[in-house]
Amino acid sequence: MEQDKHITILAIESSCDDTSAAVIRDGELLSMVTASQSVHEEFGGVVPELASRAHQQNIVPVVDAALRRAGVDKSELSAIGFTRGPGLLGSLLVGTSFAKGLALSLGIPLVEVNHLQGHIMAHFVHPSEQMVAAMPRLQGVEFRHPQYPFLCLLVSGGNSQIVLVKAYNDMQIIGQTIDDAAGEAFDKCAKVLGLPYPGGPVVDSLARQGNAKVYALAKPNLPDYDYSFSGLKTSFLYSLRDQMKAEGVDSIDALAAKVPNLKEDYCAALQATVIDILMSKLKKAAKDLDIKQVAVAGGVSANSGLRNAILDYAQRYRWQAFIPPFSFTTDNAAMIAQAAYYKYLDGDFCPIDATPYAKTSI
Ligand code: KG4
Repeated sequence: MEQDKHITILAIESSCDDTSAAVIRDGELLSMVTASQSVHEEFGGVVPELASRAHQQNIVPVVDAALRRAGVDKSELSAIGFTRGPGLLGSLLVGTSFAKGLALSLGIPLVEVNHLQGHIMAHFVHPSEQMVAAMPRLQGVEFRHPQYPFLCLLVSGGNSQIVLVKAYNDMQIIGQTIDDAAGEAFDKCAKVLGLPYPGGPVVDSLARQGNAKVYALAKPNLPDYDYSFSGLKTSFLYSLRDQMKAEGVDSIDALAAKVPNLKEDYCAALQATVIDILMSKLKKAAKDLDIKQVAVAGGVSANSGLRNAILDYAQRYRWQAFIPPFSFTTDNAAMIAQAAYYKYLDGDFCPIDATPYAKTSI
């Protein structure tokens, strides 16, 4: 029988609260299936133990659906890619153990992927025509990818950093947050306002109806390309607290009943301040390093204000801007599959006894 010359990889992402599987063949994405976990909503944040239990329930049907949609049998797989870290250890353990078990049973290699590098590789994902036809959100999207070296603003619930990307396996963090991440600032301020978790998307939609100039929030003053969001969070809290005191009320809802457009205006001010903080350092880095290829990645890159700001800066400073399609902004296995594919081509496999890691750099 003729040997199958294709390189077909199943990739698994389980670093936080999304169980995702994707199949890539010869660099082209054939399928991606993601199960998100609503169990955390009532707690206002991800509960690690509940996340790992939900991954255990989801992983078999998610992998099964990804293979089925790709029209690929597991006997055709060349390797299993998986997110090894950083992330929640319990969540990572589910994906890692599943990947190892499957690789071992099929006698194929394992490819580990760093979650943060994966986010950046989202810019290189190229879905097949059939996949685009099956996913309305991908229709009309132009799949361009940046040229090395480029700058990537990586902003998620756990990270805010500017990365100089020289190759898929050669990335250097040139600036990062010294405290909270941008997504954390969105989520925590949203919680203060009594908005549901995750707060980022809710802030994004309320901000569209608000006036960013009504409230002035604190911006950090840090050297080089580093970020800080803890002062902004505190100023958000103090501004609301002072206003509640001035109005003689003891809850956000009572304040909202007295002050028209309160939540919308706070969301608009928060979003504009976060974007301002992010963009000023990105602009400085692009200027200092004389790089015109600028990308954004991670969950917060779904923010409409940030996406517009990148496009606006691109026009002003003659950047070539790269914004991932919405489906590949938050945690997803397509980006892990893309990174795993490049590593496979380099023969960069990982041992079967590899254990997940909660924290690491790029
Ligand atoms: O990359 P991601 O899915 O998970 C990791 O942290 O790895 O990012 C999740 C973060 C959350 O903080 C969420 O609130 C934020 O991305 N996010 C947004 C938007 N969509 C997701 N933040 C602002 N605006 C959005 N539209």
